[in-house]
Amino acid sequence: MKLAILGAAGGIGQALALLLILKNQFPSGSELSLYDIAPVTPGVAKDLSHIPTDVKVIGFSGEDPTPALDAADVVLILAGVARKPGMDRSDLFNINAGIVRNLIEKVAQSCPKALIGIITNPVNTTVPIAAEVLKKAGVYDRNRLFGVTTLDIIRSNTFVAELKGKKPQEIEVKVIGGHSSVTILPLLSQIANVNFTEQEAEELTKRIQNAGTEVVEAKAGGGSATLSMGQAAARFGLSLIDALNGKENVIECSYVESDGEYARFFAQPIRLGKNGIAERLPINIINKFEKNKLKNMLETLNKDIKLGEDFINK
Ligand SMILES: NC(=O)c1ccc[n+]([C@@H]2O[C@H](COP(=O)([O-])OP(=O)(O)OC[C@H]3O[C@@H](n4cnc5c(N)ncnc54)[C@H](O)[C@@H]3O)[C@@H](O)[C@H]2O)c1
Repeated sequence: MKLAILGAAGGIGQALALLLILKNQFPSGSELSLYDIAPVTPGVAKDLSHIPTDVKVIGFSGEDPTPALDAADVVLILAGVARKPGMDRSDLFNINAGIVRNLIEKVAQSCPKALIGIITNPVNTTVPIAAEVLKKAGVYDRNRLFGVTTLDIIRSNTFVAELKGKKPQEIEVKVIGGHSSVTILPLLSQIANVNFTEQEAEELTKRIQNAGTEVVEAKAGGGSATLSMGQAAARFGLSLIDALNGKENVIECSYVESDGEYARFFAQPIRLGKNGIAERLPINIINKFEKNKLKNMLETLNKDIKLGEDFINK
């Protein structure tokens, strides 16, 4: 297995690379390929390669990611700029849209069959950008492109456990919609054996939606979530690797091209298999509070998606 990280020298990239090799979940003989425009990248790879594991770590820098992408099975993209206090994720569009477009063009040429996870924000828009670029190149497969929203899930698990005095490892919250403010919708009513009052559900939903901003403000200009995002991306990336290796019943929530019930792209539970998404699982929203939140997010989400589509097609 070969996993490539684009944007590997940044805050998330270095944490992610370290976690990926420490988790010992790669099949032996696997390769972790790091690419970033920053000249330090081969050094980051050299540094990691001194940790005794079965994974071979290689690093590339410069303008062209092609050598890092050769024969990659999974590509995780986190290249771009992160938020500073006072910014929301859409403020990153002007810089990150072009970066994602250019990198995806190279992915389409070098490893068109790879499973691609997009972490670069604004995810609601960068995923449609990636889809349109792949389509233009004639290699788009809607089962192989993922917006990584796993951080919303692990945050939800932590906050629910804190509030209800449970072990976070025992909680798994489905989070649907998108990956920014009101589009993040944790399905609190569907967590087994945990109940919330309406006020608790309202406050907790708000906290989960604003959790990224909590970190941005606490870092006071030093960036956004990197360590928790590294953990989230490692979990998602290794789920993709597990599924490619034939593990059954690998379930994650991810922002993917949907069947179109709510929006063209929608974060939802999916079952992963050897070809990416094996099944889009039903969402089954029956709770009134969540139904309302879902209805109220759709205008924002659809606008975010159109922005990405137009960026490539107009
Ligand atoms: N999906 C999520 O849940 C989530 C969570 C947190 C952050 N993010 C996003 O992830 C991205 C990275 O965040 P970070 O904290 O690691 O930022 P960072 O600034 O620490 O790292 C970004 C890296 O990208 C590199 N880069 C910039 N342009 C590049 C290009 N054209 N090719 C290759 N590399 C390039 C930079 O050199 C840098 O090393 C941001 O867009 C951030 O908003 C997403």
